[in-house]
Amino acid sequence: MKISPLSYARNYNNKYMVSDKKKASSLSTQLNFGGEAEIKAPPYKGYMVCVGTKHEKGAVIKKGLVYNRDTTSFLRSDLDWQKLAKYLDKKYKETEKVNVYNYGCSNGAETYTLALILSNLTDKDSDKYFPIIAKDIRKSQIADNIFNKVMDDIVFYDNSSKKSDIMTQLLADNENRDYFYFINDIYNTQEIHIKPKLAKKVEFTYGNILNDVDKIDSKAPSIIFCRNMWQYIDEKEYSEFFEKLYEKLAPNSIIIIGYYDIENDAHQRHKNAIDDYILEAGFVPSISDAANKSLCPDINCLVFEKN
Ligand SMILES: C[S@@+](CC[C@H](N)C(=O)[O-])C[C@H]1O[C@@H](n2cnc3c(N)ncnc32)[C@H](O)[C@@H]1O
Repeated sequence: MKISPLSYARNYNNKYMVSDKKKASSLSTQLNFGGEAEIKAPPYKGYMVCVGTKHEKGAVIKKGLVYNRDTTSFLRSDLDWQKLAKYLDKKYKETEKVNVYNYGCSNGAETYTLALILSNLTDKDSDKYFPIIAKDIRKSQIADNIFNKVMDDIVFYDNSSKKSDIMTQLLADNENRDYFYFINDIYNTQEIHIKPKLAKKVEFTYGNILNDVDKIDSKAPSIIFCRNMWQYIDEKEYSEFFEKLYEKLAPNSIIIIGYYDIENDAHQRHKNAIDDYILEAGFVPSISDAANKSLCPDINCLVFEKN
């Protein structure tokens, strides 16, 4: 019997993880692939094969790592989500309405994480954060997300035991069982199911962050999630963009970037670090930064405020 390559691969958002190099090569030859490389960083361990041509998926192989334009995950660990929740709870307790925008939302895993975290605030009025407006420049990604929302459950895969711990903690609260659940399989991969009650808190639409500033609501404070997407945007655009954003946002707004915006590719390709542009536009670093210091001790701040 011929074994389908996909039967031994774990699918992560058009990337297939396999345990050894031979299987990775076999998959690469059978699929229209964008690249393969050994991945050591958690949560990805093993060999990764990107599906689709380099051009289509934006996969870039550099120094043995595959950078894929769509890489994302549920509870992505460059933020301490529980710390972020405490910070938001305190910051917006007295605020009637808070806009939440998630740019570069990819397959929605980040958006649903955010929806879950916001639903868990002690502030009983968490409806004021919803719906989250999630946008991505890739139309096909948005189409997939909209399609997924009408299905029964949305499913993501992961293989980080740390996340399994956080999810177990979250599920100790009965209310969260209406939002999501997960199953551990024999490869210690978690199959994470997002239930419709959480999915309906999000609206997906197409958007290029650079052209979207005018659409941001200035009447209420906003949370702008724009994480791990800046390496795909020309550095020449940064100054003007962050200045315009600063002007447009209501006081008490925040922006949150990702660990990978500062580390890895961004540092190698850009003249100045992204936080320099953000600070120059007038934003100030948040004191209660939610960056996960154990993962990124070298990063000063991922959360910036307009006061
Ligand atoms: C590496 S993923 C990051 C996903 C998620 N934000 C996270 O941190 O897990 C980058 C996403 O940004 C999107 N993107 C790139 N340039 C963009 C732009 N100018 N406006 C909106 N989205 C963009 C890509 O299509 C991709 O889905």
